[in-house]
Amino acid sequence: MQPLSNLAIRDIETLIHPYTQLASLRDSGPLILERGQGVFVYDTEGREYIEGMAGLWCTALGYGNEELVEAASAQMRKLPFGHLFTAKSHDPAIELAEKLKEIAPVPISKVFFCSSGSEANDSQVKLVWYMNNALGRPKKKKIISRIKAYHGVTIASASLTGLPNNHLDFDLPIAGILHTSCPHYYRFGRDGESEEEFATRLADELEALIEIEGPESVAAFIAEPVMGAGGVIVPPRGYFKKIMAVCARHDIYLIADEVICGFGRLGSMFGSPQLGFTPHAISVAKALSSAYVPIAAVMVPEIMYDALLIESRKIGTFGHGFTYSGHPVAAAVANKTLEIYARDRVIEGVAAKAPQFARRLATLGEHPLVGEARGCGLIGGIELVADKASKRPFEAASMVGPKCVHFAQEQGLIVRFIAGDVVSICPPLVITPAELDELFDRLGRALDLTLDWVRREQIGGT
Ligand SMILES: Cc1ncc(COP(=O)(O)O)c(C=O)c1O
Repeated sequence: MQPLSNLAIRDIETLIHPYTQLASLRDSGPLILERGQGVFVYDTEGREYIEGMAGLWCTALGYGNEELVEAASAQMRKLPFGHLFTAKSHDPAIELAEKLKEIAPVPISKVFFCSSGSEANDSQVKLVWYMNNALGRPKKKKIISRIKAYHGVTIASASLTGLPNNHLDFDLPIAGILHTSCPHYYRFGRDGESEEEFATRLADELEALIEIEGPESVAAFIAEPVMGAGGVIVPPRGYFKKIMAVCARHDIYLIADEVICGFGRLGSMFGSPQLGFTPHAISVAKALSSAYVPIAAVMVPEIMYDALLIESRKIGTFGHGFTYSGHPVAAAVANKTLEIYARDRVIEGVAAKAPQFARRLATLGEHPLVGEARGCGLIGGIELVADKASKRPFEAASMVGPKCVHFAQEQGLIVRFIAGDVVSICPPLVITPAELDELFDRLGRALDLTLDWVRREQIGGT
């Protein structure tokens, strides 16, 4: 192993890294990035990598976008901070809220700003509780999420998240948050069950859960159109239609978590309509500002706004909001980002590149280590298995996924190993077709190196 650089030593003596095996990091050290341009990032040694994950599913316009830099610096010079508390406002937040209402796929009454996807979903939970108190149904408070969902890490959002690592030893989930089945046909479809039958069974399971809990106690259902961090899971056709019918029967408020899917990732502006999901409320973040500055939003319908008015009259104020809700620099960058998406037809570009992405992904699906290759638009995942026929996964301790990501890094590609033994791919939306081919070439080589290593080490009985 290479000796750690001075910067790496300073890192491990000072930082707590999210989603990192903190003990092994002390030996391996971090990959320290210094700059980026287009879809490429460069480490402190000057090595180049394709950012195959757009950072954390977020740098949609890639790196080094001067227009975004200029939008931020112009706003910093003009009004570097302004808030929306106590009836204050500013132009960038108003303009952004207007734009979001205009492009929303469902009727949106008002927009509440915050700084992260977790804050957005936490706010959604609080708003649902608040609304049902305003509407005189204080028992209707439970929220249903899904196994393998990812909605963030704050206390309510982490509870909505349906992944063990976000709950274990954090004493989560909190009471009143429930998880229904995950719509992953490859893993959870039964022998002989069609995709349609699988979707019907999941809707039946949701209805059974609601009936056991008591429909009068269930307030909302939250879902990502395509699940991201839980393993890049595209639900079967017709899934949301069936789920929505169940929710409609029990007067359940629907929240779409568009934090990854929003702003073009799947090839259209929002993932919900593409997947046949018609929510009442929407959470967005990440690509809203191409991640150049933190900003997120909660988009709510008229029924929610009416409830906020009722509570405001009763209590005297709407007692929720963050210092950085609608931060003017973040809002200015988001406004510019949305302008660029429209002007440069970025989302149409995603739709145009999606077939190439799907073709290259499908080819990886034939690799001996890959059980399923799946995706939509410019997001994909390859699920690693020890045995293709039985879908048997590798033992977690064998570290095959992390090894594959390590080989990819050696090949000059950043990808990520996520829940469900999946290597995920989610490049900036502006990636060119040639860069996309290069990304998949590098990933293919990483898979071959992983297979050689698995065979050499006789891991997983292959
Ligand atoms: C779908 C989804 N929702 C919410 C979040 C949480 O966002 P943040 O990390 O900004 O809190 C994420 C983060 O990856 C996400 O993918």
